[in-house]
This record gives sequence, structure tokens and C-alpha cells, in this order.
Amino acid sequence: MRVPGDKSISHRALILGALATGRTTIRGLAPGGDCGSTRACLAALGVGISDTAAPDGTVCHVEGLGLGGLVPPAAPLDAGNSGTTARFLMGVLAGHRFTATLTGDASLSRRPMRRVADPLGLMGARIDTTGGCLPATVAGRPLRGIAYETPVPSAQVKSAVLLAGLHAEGVTVVTESRQTRDHTERTLAAFGADISVEPLRVSVAGGRPLTAADITVPGDPSSAAFWAAAAAGIPGGSVVIEGVGVNPSRTAFLGVLERMGARVDVRLIDGAGAEPIGALTVKQASLRPVVIEPFEVPGLIDELPALAALATHGGALSVTGAGELRVKESDRISALVAGLRGLGADVEESIDGFRVSGARRLAGGVADAAGDHRLAMAFAIAALGARSDSRILGAEAVAVSYPGFFEMLERLCA
Ligand code: S3P
Repeated sequence: MRVPGDKSISHRALILGALATGRTTIRGLAPGGDCGSTRACLAALGVGISDTAAPDGTVCHVEGLGLGGLVPPAAPLDAGNSGTTARFLMGVLAGHRFTATLTGDASLSRRPMRRVADPLGLMGARIDTTGGCLPATVAGRPLRGIAYETPVPSAQVKSAVLLAGLHAEGVTVVTESRQTRDHTERTLAAFGADISVEPLRVSVAGGRPLTAADITVPGDPSSAAFWAAAAAGIPGGSVVIEGVGVNPSRTAFLGVLERMGARVDVRLIDGAGAEPIGALTVKQASLRPVVIEPFEVPGLIDELPALAALATHGGALSVTGAGELRVKESDRISALVAGLRGLGADVEESIDGFRVSGARRLAGGVADAAGDHRLAMAFAIAALGARSDSRILGAEAVAVSYPGFFEMLERLCA
């Protein structure tokens, strides 16, 4: 099987395509609502974006306006459910000489934006948030490069500062305490940015034009994680997922699957592009208890719901140091615990984590996805192991990253 294009890489390709000079082509762009939000915001900022059909799928074309070339939007920019859209665009708009307002849906309007507004303020931008959240108004100003240490490991914060850094005078340096996904660094290099990457430290020189690029977006490993978890948990289960991104900053969940007992094989298919692409094979085996330590969390942040779902099939999973989960599309600790409990799981919540025991088989029941795509998918994977049918409320949330998730589930179960 295959999974839709990587959401994280798609946002970056669209945005850097908009800031580059020339026409960027993107193959395998993520189809979900989140990247749709980035597309719509960029279109409202004057960027021409179109699709053409090709034998191997749709190709997206972005007509770049060059650094600082976006035009003032006629209305507030709606980032929908997408934190990546809102935070990245704050970084981009900070370097443009106009004022624009960013809004989002009810979930996004609860999520913290000061973590981005603060460093952008240090660079010289003026950002007025609503109590630290959206709506936020960004008044672009001439920016100066800064050296910034991110207070929480966050690829979104790192990226927003680097995107502003493209428009700043001098060099912008971001240091992080733990490695987060490095797609911005790789995509910036593909667009010819003057960037230097060392362990836990990235710098970018401002004012250097970007050149349009041809980007191939691999399948999203965070989407693949749900099928990997299903295969690892279901007796006799096995799956081969082709064309998936195997960037090491995204594949820590495979190591956890192995620690839990699953059989995992990763084959590199194409390592020549900006992002390595591979095939994953995951097979079921009897599951063991696993403890996830705080230092591992940044590398697993989007896959913890899938791993929690797997633990309901057997073994156990204990997670600490994952307080960041509380500020995702939902409070992913309390909503995950409530939903799994609704399906009959033995699960406990703590301030910065949770514990799932797979010692007893799920009875099945009702789980509320709380408007969160990853929870809807996690509950579906947990429910596969239940004795009777389950209902997932708000399951349509999957559309933000994986519109065909339930159709694929039906196909795999047929
Ligand atoms: C993302 C970074 C992560 C992740 C999100 C996508 C990105 O968020 O959870 O789904 O594309 O940079 P944080 O940077 O807030 O941890």
C-alpha cells in the first residue's frame, strides 16, 4: 500500500515555492485540509498555484513571487485547523511590509502562538495575538537576524524563525535542545538558500534569493504509523508500505515498534533527493511493555497516538515528558485517554503523559475524536482489536491529513 504525501514537507514546499523566483513543481503534495489551508492562504497573498494531471499523479505548480513579493490580502487569512500554516505564515509575513491577520478554527484558536510571536518580535516584527492565540495581526517590518534558542523543541517554531530569517538582515541562528524534524533545513537547501546545518543548530543568511525547485514529496510516515501499528497488533498482521519518507528525524516510531516486539524492515528506495524514500514492512509478533522517556518525545510527537493504539492490542506503553501533546489539535493526553477508555482500555492519565495496558482485550465502545485527525485514526486502530463494534465520534477529522483513511481501512480489512 501507499499513504498520502507528507503534510510537513508539503507545507514547506508550497511556502518556499511562493517565496522563490520561478515556477516550482511539487509531486505527491499532501491532499488533506491542512495543506489546503496553506494553499488558500498563499493564493490570498497573490501566489498562483495550479494542478496538472500526470500519469503518476497530480503535479502542483507554484508561481513564486520572490522574497518579500507577497501582496497584502484582501481579508484575514484562515489557517483552518493547521498550526503549521499559522506559525509558518507568521514567520513569512513578519518580513513583508504590510499588515495581515491570521485566523483559525476553534481548535487552532486555542493553540499557543506566543512561542512564534516572541522570537519574531525580537527580530523586529510586530505581532498582536489574542491572549497569546489567534486571531493574530502581523505587522511586517525590516527584520534583523537573531540567535535564538527554542524554549521547547518544536520544528514549527524553528521553521517560523528561519522563514523570517530569509527576509532579515544578517544571519539568523536557531538552536534546539533536541533534534526536531529537519524538513525546513532540507527544503531550504533544495531551494538554494544559504543555510548551514550542524547538530542542533541551523543558520540561514537573509536577503538571498531562492530559486524554484522540483520537489517530490514522499508518503507521510506519520500516516504510515497507523497501518504499521495495525499490522503490529493484529494476529497474523503484516503490511508493506511503499514510497514513504524515511527521514531519520521522523522514523523513531519504528524503533519503538521493534522495542514493543514487532518485526520491522526499512528498505531505502531513493536516497538521492532532498528527502529519503523507502519501503516499510511491519509484521505482528507478541507485544512487550515499553517505556518512552522524555528525551524521545520530540522524535515521536505525532506517532504517540498510533503507538498508544497499538498498546491496547498487547504489551503496555508508558509515556512521560509529553506535555506538548496537550497543545496539539486537541488536548491529546486527556482526549486520547478518554477515547481509549471509552473503547474499554485500561489507561491512566498523568500531567505530561499516559500509560496504556494491553493486558485485557478491548470490549469496544464509543470514542470521541475531539476534532483531532490523529485521534480518530488511533481509535480506529485500537477498535480493530475489540470484541464488538465501536463508534468513533467526529471521525471526519481524518480529512485534515488523510482524507481516504477509512476507505483504506475497509480495503485492508476486506
Ligand atoms: C510539525 C511539527 C510538529 C508536529 C506537527 C507538524 C511541522 O509540531 O507535531 O504535526 O511540520 O513542523 P511542533 O513543532 O509544535 O512540535
